[in-house]
This record gives sequence, structure tokens and C-alpha cells, in this order.
Amino acid sequence: MAPHFRPVAIFNVLVLITLSLASVSLAATAEQWKSRSIYQVMVDRFARTDLSTTAACTLWEFCNGTWKGLINKLDYIQDMGFTAIQISPVVENMEADTSVGTAYHGYWSVNDYAVNPHFGTEDDLKRLSDELHKRGMYLMVDVVVNNMAAAFNNTSPPPVDYTKFYPFNDAKYFHKYCNVTEWENPVNYQDCWLYPYGVALADLATEKPVVQQMMNTWIKELVSNYSIDGIRIDAAKHVNDEFLPSFVGASGVFAFGEVVTGITNDQCRYQNLGLLPGMPNYLEWFSLTAAFNGNGMDTLETARVNSNTGCNDSLALGTFLENHDTERFAAAVPDMTLAKNGMTYVILNDGIPTVYQGQEQHLNGNSTPFNREPIWKTGYDTTAPLYKLTATLNKLRNTAIAMSSEYATTISDTLFVDVNHLCLRKGPQGSQIVFCINNRSSKGPTYELNIGGGFAPGDSVVEVLSCTTVTASDQGDIAIFMDKGEPKVFFLAEALKSTGLCQTTAPEPVAPGGDSGGGGGGAAAARCLLGFCWPGSRGLRALPEHQEHMKQ
Ligand SMILES: *[C@@H]1O[C@H](CO)[C@@H](O)[C@H](O)[C@H]1NC(C)=O
Ligand SMILES: *[C@@H]1O[C@H](CO)[C@@H](O)[C@H](O)[C@H]1NC(C)=O
Ligand SMILES: *[C@@H]1O[C@H](CO)[C@@H](O)[C@H](O)[C@H]1NC(C)=O
Ligand SMILES: *[C@@H]1O[C@H](CO)[C@@H](O)[C@H](O)[C@H]1NC(C)=O
Ligand SMILES: *[C@@H]1O[C@H](CO)[C@@H](O)[C@H](O)[C@H]1NC(C)=O
Ligand SMILES: *[C@@H]1O[C@H](CO)[C@@H](O)[C@H](O)[C@H]1NC(C)=O
Repeated sequence: MAPHFRPVAIFNVLVLITLSLASVSLAATAEQWKSRSIYQVMVDRFARTDLSTTAACTLWEFCNGTWKGLINKLDYIQDMGFTAIQISPVVENMEADTSVGTAYHGYWSVNDYAVNPHFGTEDDLKRLSDELHKRGMYLMVDVVVNNMAAAFNNTSPPPVDYTKFYPFNDAKYFHKYCNVTEWENPVNYQDCWLYPYGVALADLATEKPVVQQMMNTWIKELVSNYSIDGIRIDAAKHVNDEFLPSFVGASGVFAFGEVVTGITNDQCRYQNLGLLPGMPNYLEWFSLTAAFNGNGMDTLETARVNSNTGCNDSLALGTFLENHDTERFAAAVPDMTLAKNGMTYVILNDGIPTVYQGQEQHLNGNSTPFNREPIWKTGYDTTAPLYKLTATLNKLRNTAIAMSSEYATTISDTLFVDVNHLCLRKGPQGSQIVFCINNRSSKGPTYELNIGGGFAPGDSVVEVLSCTTVTASDQGDIAIFMDKGEPKVFFLAEALKSTGLCQTTAPEPVAPGGDSGGGGGGAAAARCLLGFCWPGSRGLRALPEHQEHMKQ
């Protein structure tokens, strides 16, 4: 179904954007994060101290990755153009081996005031932070606030020895046991205990002033002790609303809070009510993965518009295709070309690109713990297609940001959308990145797609993934050679010079005419704003179905 857009809605959208730009300018740290690009590291699975690339392990036990190993492999991350990393929780976890494995992931805290000895020492963590800062990179640390953890054998209620926890060493800091069963009822999913098998996640009573105060003291010290630049709050949806802004305020840094939902207001309320500055963008994630798996690009555009109009500051949301909790993209969609289109969207979309380790190696685990395979088994291959693509796109994005601070603070324009394509233009004229992703796959046909991209007539424009040059028409439009489902990314030739990308280029091939692409081919160049499209030569007109409109 094509989305419907009415002029009155567009007016509201513009008002919202203006307001959000006005309000976010106060939050300096969120502003700094918007121009970053994050690589998510699962510490136990990224690099070992011995830098072995052959060490085998059982996926629900420790594989023995460490902070030292990570420090030694930062080049692999930085050479892909990332300017920040997000790491697993850093505090001491329970040691027990349970029916659901050990705490290799770091989410089963027992002592918030000790670092996890499996990952290294306090000095190792400080050195990681220093090494990142020397490289001009940021450190985001995952933190667990909803619960502490204890092994149990599925007896109810779980027999928890609270004296084993620190600093929450008494039952008075916790909710009485009940099992989360009502996923639509906040009282139930916030006050009851998550995950009641093998490991009891003793649910902290974060609404109690004493717990809030202890948590605030802890996060303030943690951020200061390790010079942390941002935090990810695990299971943010499972603590009471009021806890969040106080905790984020005490941290003094930017935060992503985990809120898993496909419903616009369920996600956006966290930003709009001032509870969290940012979230991983699950709202878009559902549509992004679906767009390459039987659904169209129009569905993705709808989610994009919903998050841009529903959330006060969608630029502070994290765009992602995979994380340690999701199925890997390649598990459901093995086609490499579709993965390239997905990665292109993640890096060039509005918001903060967030890539989970192994995505660049096209790993294909389908569920926990198979989506957490040690990345060293790939040999850290820097010639892998998605590694190279990510490096190129991050470099381009970093260049556009260096040329204009507006890049990261302006929502992109939709140039063209139909069931198979989404073309966006991001950034101000002169340093704009224009790109088209599609869901045709490596079996896609050859055709031409015409779009406007805010170029001047006669501008020389480079498609940076194939290093071919195209000249903008008298209307400033570009004719895109679409072939085998490849994504297409354009930048002004003049602006590209400083980057070292595409030092030699060939002319863009000319495709046979017609609309074999299933939309847009051969037609007058399309222009769209926030999902509302009209042909370039005809000005703004309200039409309910852009799909029909594009085909005329
Ligand atoms: C990880 O280290 C522990 C010792 O701390 C050792 O017992 C275990 O065999 C190691 N696992 C692997 C996969 O190397
Ligand atoms: C669970 O049962 C196993 C096997 O009897 C035992 O080794 C383990 O200590 C028990 N764990 C707890 C937390 O009671
Ligand atoms: C928690 O609830 C689930 C059903 O939702 C049930 O299967 C499980 O046994 C319960 N666990 C405990 C420890 O009460
Ligand atoms: C931070 O460092 C101080 C000084 O070493 C220490 O007393 C405190 O416990 C540390 N806090 C945390 C949360 O690591
Ligand atoms: C979000 O925008 C709405 C509507 O303009 C406004 O009422 C609200 O205060 C904003 N929230 C924040 C946290 O800025
Ligand atoms: C692309 O979108 C179309 C239209 O919704 C859909 O029929 C097709 O299955 C999608 N392609 C893939 C690879 O998912």
C-alpha cells in the first residue's frame, strides 16, 4: 500500500522539524553524537588477547575476547570509517554455568563496582578509552539498570541470595518476584522479572528514591572513571519512565535506550516526553528488514516518515540492520547485493549509523547465540565486499560532515520512492549525498532511473561505488544506470577530490530506455519531500497515490 500524504500533514511536519531543531541545539552531547558512526562490539567475541583467529569456542560459553584484544584491533574498526564504538557491559557478572550458558555477553551483573575480570582490568578499560580518544573516537558503554542476575533451576519463586549483589545487597532494593507475562501492560513488564528460566533477573525497584540515587551515583562515577562518551541503556522500556531522565542526567552524556517496538508512539514518546535523548531505531528496523524480504521500499519510506514526524529528534536515533539480539540480515536474506543496499541505508540515512560486528563480514547466524559468533573466525578480512562498502560510505559521510555541519542536523529529502526504490538526498547543496537503494537483488534488470538531486546543470557527479561519472542535465537531474540491484551513491566530483575515493572514473554506462525498472525509468525526474512526490517540471500538487503519479 502506498502511503497517503496530505498538504496539511506536510505543514505539521515542517513545524515539528523547526521546533525540534530549536530544542535539540541545547543538548550539546546529542549534537556531537549525531555526526558519529558507531560500530557495536560484543567484547567476548571480537578479539582475544592472544589475537588468535583460530580459537574455537562453544557459543553459549566464554570465547575469551578481551579489552586488550579490542585495543589491538581498533585499526580494523577505524579503517572502516567508524568514529565510535559501543561495547558490552563492563561490570562483574555471575560466574555460574547455567542451562542457558554463562555470562559471556556481560548482561548478568552482580557487582556494579567491579569490572568484569573476563574482559580485563580497570587499567585495560581505561587504556581502551584513552586509545579511542587518541584516535578521535568515542566510547559508548552498555549498562544494565533493570536487574541483577542469579542462577536458579526454574523453581518458583527463584531463591535469590541478595547479599551476593553489590551495591544492591538486600531484598528491599528489588520488586517481589512475579514473572513478566503481559507484554502490553507497563506495570507488569516494568515491575515483574524478565527471563525466568536458568537465570533469575532480579528486578530492581528503580522507582524507589534510594535505588535511583544509588544508580545515579554509580553511573556518574563510571562515566568519570573511564571517560565514557555515551551509554546504551539495556531494557530501558522495562524500568519506570521517571528513572530514565534522572539517570541520563546523572551520567552527563548522551544515551541510547533500548525500546523494542514497531509502534510509532511507543518509541517516540521516550524522546518527546524527554525520557531519553536517543534510541536504536527499532521502528524503522522492522520495515528496513522487511523491505528486502518480500515487502516494498514504500513500507520503509512510511516508517521513515513516521519516525521523522513522530519523534522530536529522529536525527538522534540509531539506524541499524542488525544487533546482538536480532537475527542477522543474511540469515533470512542471503543475497549480497541486498545486504549492500541495507548497509547503504544504515550509513547514509538520517540518524546515527550503528553496525553490529560481523555485519560487514556477512555473517548469517539466525538467533542467540548463533548471531554472536566470534568475528576472528573471518580473519578480520578487510577485502570483504561489505567491509569495503562500509569503509567507502563512512568516508563519504565523514567528508560531507566535515564540509558542512548541516549534514548531520538536517533530515533528508525523499527524491523518489516506489515499491522497489528509495532515493534520498541528504545535506546542503555542494556537499549533498544522493543515493538510491533498491530491493531488486543481484538478479535485478538493467534500466535507467531519472532523479533530481539538487545539482546544477552541467555538474559533474560521481557514482562512488562504481567510480563512474554522470553529468547533471539542464534541469539538474541525473540519469542513473541501474543494474543487478546495486545501490547507487552520488557526490559532486569536485567535492570528492579531497577524499581519495574514485581517483579515476569512467563515464556512467547508458541503459536502454523504458521503464523496465518498474518505476521511474524514462519518466520525468521526480521530486519528493517527506514522502510526497511530484514530477520535476510541474511543481507541487496534492495527489493521494504517489505510485500512480510516478508512472504517468
Ligand atoms: C577461556 O578462558 C578460561 C580460563 O579463564 C578457560 O578455562 C577456557 O578454556 C577458555 N576458553 C576458550 C574458548 O579459550
Ligand atoms: C541447579 O542444578 C544443578 C544440577 O543439580 C546444580 O549443579 C546447580 O548447582 C543448581 N543451581 C542452582 C542455582 O541451584
Ligand atoms: C514464567 O511464565 C512462563 C509462562 O509465561 C512459564 O512457562 C514459566 O514456568 C514461568 N516461570 C516461573 C519461574 O515462574
Ligand atoms: C571510580 O573510581 C573511584 C576511585 O578509584 C572508586 O572509589 C569508585 O568506586 C569508582 N566507581 C566506579 C563506579 O567504578
Ligand atoms: C517535543 O515536541 C513537542 C511538540 O512540539 C513538545 O511539546 C515537547 O515539549 C517536545 N519534547 C521535548 C523533550 O523537547
Ligand atoms: C521488493 O518489493 C516488492 C514489492 O513489495 C516485493 O514484491 C519483492 O518481494 C521485494 N523484493 C525482495 C527481495 O524482498
